[in-house]
Amino acid sequence: MTYSSIELVRADGIATLTFNRPKALNALNTILLQELADALDSIAQDETVRVLILTGAGEKSFIAGADITEIATLTPLAAKKFAQFGQDIISKLQSLPIPVIAAVNGYALGGGCEMALACDFIYASDKAIFGLPEITLGVIPGFGGTQRLPRLIGASLAKEMIFTGKHLSAAEAKAIGLVNKTFAPEELQAAVDAISRLIATKGKASLCAAKQTVNQGLNGDLTTGLAIERDAFALCLASPDAKEGTSAFLEKRKPVFTGELHS
Ligand code: CAA
Repeated sequence: MTYSSIELVRADGIATLTFNRPKALNALNTILLQELADALDSIAQDETVRVLILTGAGEKSFIAGADITEIATLTPLAAKKFAQFGQDIISKLQSLPIPVIAAVNGYALGGGCEMALACDFIYASDKAIFGLPEITLGVIPGFGGTQRLPRLIGASLAKEMIFTGKHLSAAEAKAIGLVNKTFAPEELQAAVDAISRLIATKGKASLCAAKQTVNQGLNGDLTTGLAIERDAFALCLASPDAKEGTSAFLEKRKPVFTGELHS
């Protein structure tokens, strides 16, 4: 598939996907979402990619939400289909086996905030703005915001954001645990590249197992989560990377992980 609204670049085990409709502040329209789904499928099948970075083209915006020109014309039935379509793609992003980092370089509003919430963590420019402003349009978040935001920051803070539609600065977003770290705009990319390179030096089997274990464990009780962890730990130990990691420690050298998933 040829992309017109996103860009996908892969190098050294790291894929960077850039939302690329800067004139519309990278708003999510149907074409962009279809391209995103295709790109996620291709990344999921690429055994060489260990980390995915999401970011927005231009200096102003990560994603300013779902495209309001599309939403404005939807019938209720079509709106339900549109929400299902967006939710499915954002769930596909969340369940991508490899770590995904949101590099939020500007507005992350509505569907943009919901996209960032489905990533494993967020690094942001200190000029970034977060919010779920749907209430000011007379609607509510439809791409998972009412569900993922309270799970991340708690119900009370999430409800305050959803009921008011207020914008949060990057510093405010960091203070409530929505963002891991903030950086000067010109330093964001280097910081995201550095953390991605560090993660990409790790074994792919253990990275994927760690992500899956945390995510699955959060959906259930502690006992079930611990059982999931035990199984994943045992499976990791059977991987070539575990053999390499433990041997390297005992031989007092740095491990070189191949990322092979089966021995
Ligand atoms: N959809 C479509 N177009 C958008 C857009 C969006 N979500 N956000 C911005 N744009 C367009 C603007 O219409 C404008 O286009 P023109 O130049 O053709 O007029 C261009 O991007 C630049 O935007 P502004 O002139 O408004 O820029 P600004 O700096 O004055 O304001 C902003 C920036 C505060 C982000 C403002 O654009 C804004 O409030 N955008 C809408 C944010 C929003 O409400 N998002 C939620 C959408 S609904 C949703 O996401 C539902 C869901 O859960 C799935």
